[in-house]
Amino acid sequence: MRNESPTPSPDQDEDDFLCSVREGLRSRPKTIPPKYFYDAHGSHLFDLICETPEYYPTRTETAILERHGAEMAGMIGSRCTMIELGSGSATKTPLLLKYLTDDAVYIPVDICEPYLVKSTQRLQTMFPALKMQPLCADYHHLPALAIKRHAGQRQAVFFPGSTIGNCTPNEAVTLLKNVARLVGPGGGLLIGVDAKKSAEVLNAAYNDAAGHTAAFNRNLLTRMQRELGAQLEADQFTHHAYYNETHGRIEMHLVSRCKQAIRVGRESFKFDQGESIHTENSYKYSADEFRRLARSAGWHLQSTWRDAHALFNVHYLSLSAAEPLKLAR
Ligand code: AVJ
Repeated sequence: MRNESPTPSPDQDEDDFLCSVREGLRSRPKTIPPKYFYDAHGSHLFDLICETPEYYPTRTETAILERHGAEMAGMIGSRCTMIELGSGSATKTPLLLKYLTDDAVYIPVDICEPYLVKSTQRLQTMFPALKMQPLCADYHHLPALAIKRHAGQRQAVFFPGSTIGNCTPNEAVTLLKNVARLVGPGGGLLIGVDAKKSAEVLNAAYNDAAGHTAAFNRNLLTRMQRELGAQLEADQFTHHAYYNETHGRIEMHLVSRCKQAIRVGRESFKFDQGESIHTENSYKYSADEFRRLARSAGWHLQSTWRDAHALFNVHYLSLSAAEPLKLAR
């Protein structure tokens, strides 16, 4: 089946990146949005992070899906349209797809085109009968996503990996409202959310000994060099990640080791020694905190599955079939 939605051209991506970098480095504190981690190299580095002993979320969520996938698919309905947001290498997806019927439809959405193509091919080989409609798009622009409705099927979004943790709680509510609008009344959402836990465990997960997280963070700088011709010394920035208990989030920063400047085109961005670029937030929610957050976006919690150590939660939420929807634009 053909994907009729607009696929952003690489030029468009570069424009977005340039605009975001300019805007982010002009603001105080300086920031760059985490979605720019995921070019082909960054997506690869993220896969390496997932294999480190310290980074527990991927392994833990996978085990939860392995154990409860059948029950989850049962709740969603095996004949559904399953939209996966930020599908990446989609390694967890087969754990659900194997329980869907042949007339179900799978729609992976990702901004990294090579990853999207490769992972869809792999899944299509594993599940030859399943309809797949990959969509190269940024799920931050959900309202613009043109997703074809398949009559008689529940529309459900699969959003694993605690990716929602990148949003502030307010942004998360907006995103959850947009997901509600996308799937419509009666729709479902299966979402993985990292739980609050000791700072020790969290800090280790974002400071792996092999240095993959540091490389992933610094890839933002080398990507700026590669794609924007930025002039900077990537080695003069250090990876800094720590659990901010007050906000219940991991913060990642690139901290300037000295007084220096980054040049992008004609513009120069000055850094004091110790000044940082805030590159990521990764919010952690208890099951109850997340239930309340989702409720304020119109969702009803149906079920939560977790591992024995309560490191990670997978929630299934649904929308009432006839609930009037007041959704964000
Ligand atoms: C993909 C956003 C869930 O926040 O744990 C991993 C990204 N950053 N290590 C996370 C990430 C540093 C990851 N998410």
